[in-house]
Amino acid sequence: MDLGLSGKTAIVTGAGSGIGAAIARRFGQEGAHVVVSDINQESAAAVAREITDAGGSALGVAADVTDEAAVSAMVEQAVATFGTVHILINNAGLARDGRITKMSESDWDLVVDTGLKGAFLCTRAVLPHMTDQKWGRIISMSSRAHNGNPGQANYSAVKAGLIGFTKAMALENGRNFITANAVAPGMIDTPFVRSHPAYEKIRDNAIKATPIPRVGEAEDVADAVAFLASERASYITGDVLHVTGGRY
Ligand code: NAI
Repeated sequence: MDLGLSGKTAIVTGAGSGIGAAIARRFGQEGAHVVVSDINQESAAAVAREITDAGGSALGVAADVTDEAAVSAMVEQAVATFGTVHILINNAGLARDGRITKMSESDWDLVVDTGLKGAFLCTRAVLPHMTDQKWGRIISMSSRAHNGNPGQANYSAVKAGLIGFTKAMALENGRNFITANAVAPGMIDTPFVRSHPAYEKIRDNAIKATPIPRVGEAEDVADAVAFLASERASYITGDVLHVTGGRY
């Protein structure tokens, strides 16, 4: 199936690692111009280099998605290099777990600002370009945790919030042929989950609880994102695609 992504410009936030890196590589393979954006300059540059070494088109940009000036600069650099922005993947996110009575205000703010404010700032910055060209895709990385996970009030609030944000963006921007969707992965084997002290136990429990008995790979999520970003998904908007192996 031709996804029609060749020549499109895609910004992927948090693309220096894990799921974002897999999405960036996938867009590179599809012939898109990829803006590999991450708060970590070295990892953004390394993933961009991987894509260009494989014959693709990419630009590594260091940007903290919670910083309005950095986000504006990132979008300006993308437009100066590739002409416009067609696709935004709001992927940057992190967790700071703890029961609510033990959760610090700073851990709440960090998780909420990175996940929700980051999506707001990036989306607001790219929308004028999408609106002008009457074509756009906004895909935000939710999680199975949108249903609520104990010890993850901040993270669950972000992942549920991104679904509300997505539905509002779908309603506001549909008339300009801009779609907005969310992807909700289950447990995906990335540095994010591997860094958890109880990783092996969590992984084994997840495999037992999942109809398809394995953990997900970043490429499983990248495939879903590539479809939603493509010409083939032009009549799908305001929706949530779960990539969980059937675990809800
Ligand atoms: P990861 O930790 O491997 O990658 C996240 C990237 O985001 C890192 O490169 C990090 O530097 C970057 N980042 C963090 N704060 C940032 C900021 N303020 N500005 C720009 N970049 C920033 O994590 P992973 O697993 O690849 O997760 C990616 C997304 O997928 C996150 O939103 C996460 O919540 C979500 N997700 C992950 C799941 C999993 O099991 N791995 C499951 C469901 C959702």
